[in-house]
Amino acid sequence: MQGIADSFYLCGMQKTNVAIFASGTGSNAVNLIRHFADHSSIDVAFVLSNKEDADVLTSARELGITTFYRSNDDVADAEVLMVLCREMKIDGIVLAGYLRKVPEQFIQNFEGKIINLHPSLLPKFGGKGMYGSHVHKAVIESGEEESGITIHYVNEAFDEGRIIAQFHCSLDEGETVESLAGKIKWLEHSYFPTVIERTLMQ
Ligand code: GAR
Repeated sequence: MQGIADSFYLCGMQKTNVAIFASGTGSNAVNLIRHFADHSSIDVAFVLSNKEDADVLTSARELGITTFYRSNDDVADAEVLMVLCREMKIDGIVLAGYLRKVPEQFIQNFEGKIINLHPSLLPKFGGKGMYGSHVHKAVIESGEEESGITIHYVNEAFDEGRIIAQFHCSLDEGETVESLAGKIKWLEHSYFPTVIERTLMQ
């Protein structure tokens, strides 16, 4: 007969399996992998990129994480992503600098389980074409006094899913795209892992 300790282990100790989707350098993906290494309840199961030569794939592999490359056509196909996530027993997906649109059927399948990181205070400076340094350039050119990051659920409308958390930074006189990018990266690396932790463990 199964003992109490065994059943507790079976019911209570299942880790939450997370997939990270990323398209580029992957500093956030690496930060997340490091944060969740040896974590008691969250495992980074794999990193997927739509770019075969993306630095994020090399960095993740160096950290011992399984990686997958899928072409732009493949990542536009919900079935391709669902088969992969089902096989890898994925509970949640984190978009960390992922620049492709996520197919609707995949979003519906993982409703409330896909989290995106955006480098502005949404709803400002979101939507098509607003990624990376394009966002910082637009923020500076608009004369904003502050910027920040938004962590939000992904829904069918680009950058419009329910906001989970935002973190702010001020813009100084003479702020450049590079200096603002540095402030934004600092916010992302400082807060993204713990927000994911809180959100996916609820
Ligand atoms: C991050 O700043 C992230 O907020 C942004 O891409 C960067 C990826 O950096 N995402 C978007 O712009 C999504 N619209 P990283 O590759 O160093 O993690």
